[in-house]
Amino acid sequence: MNVEDKKKAAAEHAIKIVANGLKIGLGTGSTANYFIEAAAVKVKREKLDVVFVPTSAQTYALAQKLGMNLKTLDEVPFLDFTVDGADEVDSSYRMIKGGGGALLREKIVASSSRFVICICDDSKKVDVLGKFPLPVEVSRWGVNATAWKIERMLAHLGYEKPRMRIRATADGKPFITESGNPIFDLDLKAIPDPEKLEGYLANTAGVIDTGLFIGICGIIMMGTDNGVVETARK
Ligand code: 5RP
Repeated sequence: MNVEDKKKAAAEHAIKIVANGLKIGLGTGSTANYFIEAAAVKVKREKLDVVFVPTSAQTYALAQKLGMNLKTLDEVPFLDFTVDGADEVDSSYRMIKGGGGALLREKIVASSSRFVICICDDSKKVDVLGKFPLPVEVSRWGVNATAWKIERMLAHLGYEKPRMRIRATADGKPFITESGNPIFDLDLKAIPDPEKLEGYLANTAGVIDTGLFIGICGIIMMGTDNGVVETARK
């Protein structure tokens, strides 16, 4: 199976949990898109009353096109669960997210959900987080000062030669999130203690949120060559 087939298989596996009366958060990205497409078909076919809360304009546009019943998180602040993809996930269900730049809204929606299902292909599984550059959303105001503080903090924590770049669009302009903020991508190679790094970043003035999702994911549905492997955090 190729990567796309594995993503699709994971997304379609997650469909079994979509049922009448639920309020479901919709993640962002290609794997989330497969889930959205499959969920739209099931809801229509079975005439289910389900409310969906999207995590980005991209997800909103797809779900709206498919005729799904959409609400904002302000209208529906408590969700039964959220289904979302990941850039990396480890055996402690810790994830790096934000490759698509939706980390802040994804984290707000995820943390407003009773649990989060991570749907992904098995290339996302890692022993140690950090090969994928960690996205950190920061305030546009004072961005250079925030960069300096992050660099000093990383040196203090013993990260050797971390590379930090401000995310840019394809035409070279700074990438700005839907919440109006730039993103730093921290190329750390390995994050030996994600909780510690998250704590330090969260305490850095100017940092709005990070792509480290710790204690958030409860179930992983992973597409592999041998089918979808579903595991739950103990
Ligand atoms: C977007 C995300 C995505 O979930 C993550 O980038 C995975 O994307 P894909 O399913 O396309 O591999 O965090 O901000």
